[in-house]
Amino acid sequence: MPSDRATGIHDLSLATTEFVLPHAALAGHNGTEIGKYHVGIGQRSMSVPAADEDIVTMGAAAAAPIIARHGTDRIRTVVFATESSIDQAKSAGVYVHSLLGLPSATRVVELKQACYGGTAALQFAIGLVLRDPRQQVLVIASDISKYDLDSPGESTQGAAAVAMLVAADPALVRVEEPSGLFTADVMDFWRPNYRDAALVDGEESITAYLQAVENTWTDYAKQGGRPLDEFAAFCYHQPFTKMAYKAHRHLLNTCGQDTDGARIQQAVGHTTAYNKVIGNSYTASAYLGLAALLDQADDMTDRPIGFLSYGSGSVAEFFAGTAVPGYREHLRTAAHHEAIDRRGTLDYATYRELHEASFPTDGGHHPTPPQTTGPFRLAALRSHKRIYERR
Ligand code: CAA
Repeated sequence: MPSDRATGIHDLSLATTEFVLPHAALAGHNGTEIGKYHVGIGQRSMSVPAADEDIVTMGAAAAAPIIARHGTDRIRTVVFATESSIDQAKSAGVYVHSLLGLPSATRVVELKQACYGGTAALQFAIGLVLRDPRQQVLVIASDISKYDLDSPGESTQGAAAVAMLVAADPALVRVEEPSGLFTADVMDFWRPNYRDAALVDGEESITAYLQAVENTWTDYAKQGGRPLDEFAAFCYHQPFTKMAYKAHRHLLNTCGQDTDGARIQQAVGHTTAYNKVIGNSYTASAYLGLAALLDQADDMTDRPIGFLSYGSGSVAEFFAGTAVPGYREHLRTAAHHEAIDRRGTLDYATYRELHEASFPTDGGHHPTPPQTTGPFRLAALRSHKRIYERR
């Protein structure tokens, strides 16, 4: 029998990169009208990792404040979701486990299904907590979105990590049953093992995403979910922020409702604030949306929030969450703003250099230039091993 005890997100913390590239600099290079970026896709800038940053350093930076606040005693599982994995065998979560000094009596695993992985991790974590409510699960969603230079996807790049502590009687958001689910075998976005940058069929990807919105909602309704008008806001996966607007319009149309612009703005506007300046963070994206919503909106207590997680390929899930009384006392709004505002602005040439850089594959000792001022860094690749440091 499923437990009716509230389970969900007890704490949430985000991290992003050392650098940022404004879309104005990209437009200056490729001659695109800036309106296409600022209005057409709804992006102002993208986070760019330093040479000594990756999904592990971002994931550890996001999780460290959670460990500092709650300790490690109840954490027995770490689930690391990513689609920009650094190793085919070893979980990125094991490096984070070590950097954060988590107890050895912990299970650690990495999950992948494109941008949906963060939601899979959250749902699996909830299952573990329902089985034993004394335990907490650390979920980390961390990704670097990278497309080929001068390709259409380049303007939607970004990077960030969100760490969430999943627990019984959560302090932030109760996650509800049921979920609406949808899987379809579609080649809209993928990254073969031999490539650093993703491949994408842009038009197909948008169509596939909208089909997933429709189908997850249909299944959610069939499973006995809440009616649409109960929701106060919607956190969509945001490959670029305009997609949240497209998705919500599609949902309203699917439900035969009025697609008034002000109504759509009210439903998704707050959720786009961080994604707009960070860019696509794949698995973390919908939860950056949640962070932006909770950090900015007026009191959301007991007001249902819809979540739509889409992972190309494709798997999607719609579910509801509700902000719990007192949640505002547990937010990390100032730290989130600091993580975004502290980034150093790159010029186009330096961005291009960072984009093109890659480690030699000869097994030699290759130290990285010390660029990040964050708490963790990738110091070197030595004998094919990644060497991390805590600063
Ligand atoms: N002023 C205002 N708007 C302008 C403009 C201007 N000067 N010039 C163009 N626009 C508008 C266009 O009208 C268009 O708006 P609509 O979508 O509302 O029609 C918008 O800007 C984008 O223009 P294009 O479609 O011509 O842009 P593009 O060919 O460069 O492709 C893209 C856009 C498909 C999103 C491309 O950036 C891409 O391939 N991105 C990566 C794939 C992606 O993000 N897919 C999303 C769904 S898949 C997913 O969600 C998983 C994931 O994370 C990848």
